Amino acid sequence: MLSVSMLATFPELVEHALDYGVTGRARERGLWRWRGLGLHEFASDARKSIDARPAAGGPGMVLMPGPLDRALAAATVWHGEVPTVVFLSPDGAPLTQARVRDLAQCSHVCLVAGRYEGIDQRWIDANVDAVVSLGDYVLSGGELAAAVVVDACVRLLPGALGDKESTAFESFADSQGGRLDWPQYALTCCDMALPPGLTGGDHAVIQRWRLKQALARTWRRRPDLLARANLSLVERALIDEIALESKA
Ligand code: ADE
Repeated sequence: MLSVSMLATFPELVEHALDYGVTGRARERGLWRWRGLGLHEFASDARKSIDARPAAGGPGMVLMPGPLDRALAAATVWHGEVPTVVFLSPDGAPLTQARVRDLAQCSHVCLVAGRYEGIDQRWIDANVDAVVSLGDYVLSGGELAAAVVVDACVRLLPGALGDKESTAFESFADSQGGRLDWPQYALTCCDMALPPGLTGGDHAVIQRWRLKQALARTWRRRPDLLARANLSLVERALIDEIALESKA
């Protein structure tokens, strides 16, 4: 079972987001469990302070080490083991499927959601194993980013998804060489026709059509992924075709 704790100003923001669909069912089946720790509960003064002005001046407030220390200690007691600590911040390394796969294998992940100007760097240096960003934009806090990390991890837990195939052939899967997924079409639909590439019934033709669609999509939307991919000769030939067709 994966244990996920979160240290945050507003842990309630995440609690119900994970009650639905795959994450909700997986929690009911005991595949993972959750503990949100609100930093105000771990303040040491009557005003329940969790932040302080930045040293040497500047705007905003910085989360203080004390409440974070006590909340992390409580998370450790809850699970009975020191967690892998991940701080969600726009200053982090981009979240990737490879990172998600690693986190999904941990026994206890503690997600730390920042707010305000951030967290005291001394606390980060002493406690954080990885700083992770969802992308090059700034959220008002790390709570929703933490929910995204949990969702991405939980769906990889064995038994979380009904159909084993569904993680093997999606975007970024190893079997896809790190490229995007091909487009999907519902078998029963309205009066819109299916693309001819899918209708002939020849499995090899369908596979080639799908591969080309996946490569074309990646070529257009995420050329950075293709630059890193270890492409086969067939895939290279398809990309040449795609490039030529785009000029036509
Ligand atoms: N907190 C604020 N912005 C964030 C981002 N882009 N990714 C992760 N955590 C964040």
